[in-house]
Amino acid sequence: MDKLIIQGGNRLNGVVTISGAKNAALPILCAALLAETPLHLTGVAALKDIATTIKLLDTMGVKIARNGSQVSLDASDVASFEATYEMVKTMRASILVLGPLLARFGTARVSLPGGCAIGSRPVDLHIKGLQAMGAAIHITHGYIQASTLHLPNRRLQGARYYMDIVTVTGTENLMMAAALAEGTTVLENAAKEPEVIDLAEMLIKMGANISGAGTDVITIVGVEKLHGTEHNVVCDRIEAGTYMVAAAMAGGEVKLLNARADLLDAVIEKLREAGATVTSDKDSITVKSDGKLKAVNIRTAPHPAFPTDMQAQFMALNAVASGVAKVTETIFENRFMHVQEMQRMGADISIDGNTALVKGVATLDGATVMATDLRASASLVLAGLVARGETVVERIYHLDRGYENLEAKLNALGANVKRV
Ligand code: UD1
Repeated sequence: MDKLIIQGGNRLNGVVTISGAKNAALPILCAALLAETPLHLTGVAALKDIATTIKLLDTMGVKIARNGSQVSLDASDVASFEATYEMVKTMRASILVLGPLLARFGTARVSLPGGCAIGSRPVDLHIKGLQAMGAAIHITHGYIQASTLHLPNRRLQGARYYMDIVTVTGTENLMMAAALAEGTTVLENAAKEPEVIDLAEMLIKMGANISGAGTDVITIVGVEKLHGTEHNVVCDRIEAGTYMVAAAMAGGEVKLLNARADLLDAVIEKLREAGATVTSDKDSITVKSDGKLKAVNIRTAPHPAFPTDMQAQFMALNAVASGVAKVTETIFENRFMHVQEMQRMGADISIDGNTALVKGVATLDGATVMATDLRASASLVLAGLVARGETVVERIYHLDRGYENLEAKLNALGANVKRV
């Protein structure tokens, strides 16, 4: 199994280009199922989760051509309406095929995701939302079996639906389903993440009638058909944020290209509070730091608040900052698995419920650590970049799910990271 070997202590300087967002690409690829003519995408990063989604769509009969970051998908001839347990267990976001399949073909069979390293992540709101639109849904043998065959014209029916928890993929699944429903759907307490907006913008180009994406009420007037279009996937704000924290911790000056500061307000504010200098223009961000940071309190919450997907990286930052920080995780239970590993590197962190108390130490010690989820892995790499000596990060397949060319990008900035 691949691992990363990091020699800590190098400053980071130079330019890094941020890839298209994984979390935008996944729903966007699934939205291909809604279109009767081909969809042409650019900015699709070479990531494990994206390969898994492409494989899933391929098993359904979607014809896919890929050339670097360009992907074309033709769903004119879909033959299977199923996402098996084997697919869904490797990637929870496979649930995103449920809404599109049901809306266009009137039937879908999708495995329930089951447990996941960062806590139980149910899909009850996806299911209840589709039921509100009239779908008949049964859970049998671990599968969600959904149908619209009893409905007028076999189409989902527009509905008002209030999500009592803000859910990103839930909002996306229901927005895609509603795009082909009969009548108007109003999604209340919708997720406002930039990836939801990117998906909505693409659906509109496909012929959908959607307003309010990016606010907490999204209104979708269903149409009978959607067609293909061209779309460039929005840049990855979490990848960008990770390199920004790397630069702040290691010291130096790093310019991120294809990065949008307006998607990272909460993160940038915290980096400035920690003592880094952050400047930006329309599609680049520059971080300058002397590597001497102050502890910053973090509380995760839905966008535009501080993203849970940046919590682990800021844990690493706080581990070597001066002072004491409180890091509170409000989105996922059990998303502190990086803490134990950081403790093995000498970090002084204690956990009480969903809050971690981080007392900064002068320096971390290189150690062999194991990654347990995507962002936890990234935080261990950040810790390794500033640790004394050698850090070995094992199980890095998690990193390959979400970071394109991680070691090449870091090494181009002056880091010393080897994959073995
Ligand atoms: C998405 C992101 C993930 C990010 C998360 C929160 C993708 C592919 N993944 O995950 O990187 O960490 O948003 O920003 O975009 N919940 C329910 N019932 C549901 C759905 C969700 O209780 O039906 C709960 C979850 O358990 C969690 C919270 O709602 O506590 C938010 O989860 P959600 O926004 O759905 O996360 P994902 O969409 O899975």
